[in-house]
Amino acid sequence: MDLASDLADIVGERLSCSSAELYCYSCDASQVRGRPEYVVRPKDRDEVSRIMALAFEKRVPVTPRGAGTGLAGGAVPLKGGIVLDLSSMDRILEIDCSCRQVLVEPGVVRDRLNLALLPSGLFFPPDPGSSAMCSIGGLLANNGSGMHCVKYGTTRDYALDLEIVLADGSVIHTGSQVLKSSAGYDLTRLFIGSEGTLGVITAARLSVVPLPKARRLVLAAFRSPEEAGLAVNRVLSAGIVPAACEILDRTTVEVLHRCDPHLALPTADLILFEADGEPTAVLDEAARIEEVCLQSAISIDTASEAAEMEEVWAARRLVGAAVSRLDPKKTRIYVGEDVGVPVGMMHVLIRRVQEISEDAGIPAMKYGHIGDGNLHVALFVDLSDEAEVERAKLAAHRIHLAALDLGGTVSAEHGVGRARSSYMRLQWGGALDVMRAIKRALDPRGILNPGKLDLGSGTDCDTADAGAGL
Ligand code: LAC
Ligand code: ZN
Repeated sequence: MDLASDLADIVGERLSCSSAELYCYSCDASQVRGRPEYVVRPKDRDEVSRIMALAFEKRVPVTPRGAGTGLAGGAVPLKGGIVLDLSSMDRILEIDCSCRQVLVEPGVVRDRLNLALLPSGLFFPPDPGSSAMCSIGGLLANNGSGMHCVKYGTTRDYALDLEIVLADGSVIHTGSQVLKSSAGYDLTRLFIGSEGTLGVITAARLSVVPLPKARRLVLAAFRSPEEAGLAVNRVLSAGIVPAACEILDRTTVEVLHRCDPHLALPTADLILFEADGEPTAVLDEAARIEEVCLQSAISIDTASEAAEMEEVWAARRLVGAAVSRLDPKKTRIYVGEDVGVPVGMMHVLIRRVQEISEDAGIPAMKYGHIGDGNLHVALFVDLSDEAEVERAKLAAHRIHLAALDLGGTVSAEHGVGRARSSYMRLQWGGALDVMRAIKRALDPRGILNPGKLDLGSGTDCDTADAGAGL
């Protein structure tokens, strides 16, 4: 029997081999491309287990995929084989209010989880720009985070237990319902950020927290993004822990105005602070943020009406898509766009990115999670102009190097995938060999998401290098 009929025995009609469908699975939101031979949509853990056992036996690559919103090629099948589309495994299996925990399947979309939690007064804080689309499995696989991790941390901080199907189809749990454990290695953290290279997440137990009673936004406008960065340093040094602290540089604001001319944002380099918690504490915190920012801000606005705040947040979430309005002839590239540095170094990183962009003659919009040291840089190129593409690649390379030079990371929340895999050695040195040893131990045939994170070293599926997708 061929592989297609073996797979059909497991998932029936939830197998696709048509060119049109395979094409739809050949990309994520980045420029990385790779075509699968089969797409399967399992409905439960047992099907995933049988698929993995089959792939293990036949030595066929398997690329797990959630909502496909990734920006580094993590879910793109570089070596063909099977794409394991987990989006149909989308049940919320349990909401336990007394223990403040939920048990979910990987395909649950982040915003749907929070909608389901609303009546309980609880929420799951990690909040990327793609919250309306991205799935919990993808958030776990990449340690996604987004707008609220200054105060609330990243996805990693909420994972209590993962159910994992290993490369050979066997099933393990990495944790339990207990909040504390000193027994053994922390396998939960090992699988978080492993981007489907070590196992397939088929269920996750997550902690959730009470919704804050009140929120308030402080919108401070500055003369330059660097000044904005310095103001953030002063706010954080004053012992204030905002719920969110985002930067939108002037160009980003201009682009947002092109999408919505009525948007009430001043055209300047902006920092968007959110205070949340008990009503009086929120007022106090917002006043302290204002006081610190007044030293250098051109203007400061506040908002506490739900509709008004939602408008600003909606605009912030739109940035990733809206940036394409900067120049319709150019395409945004997904390299050098998710660097992270120690928070106090953000103003230095911003200056270096500005210099790099000017040197290369490539426009760079800067926005993102300045309060936790994560800058998104949108670089734009005319892909038909080879010289410009080369200059953009060099600019992205220099941005990655600048982040590493400042003690940072080439990806703070979007993951390594293929787009950043060539930096793994530079960022990790000998620690990459430890990662490779773990990879070999858990995936001896190299079938799990091969070609990613520079983990390949002579395993069956993970040999030839694929392009970074530019
Ligand atoms: C954001 C995504 C791009 O912050 O991470 O909008
Ligand atoms: Zn982000």
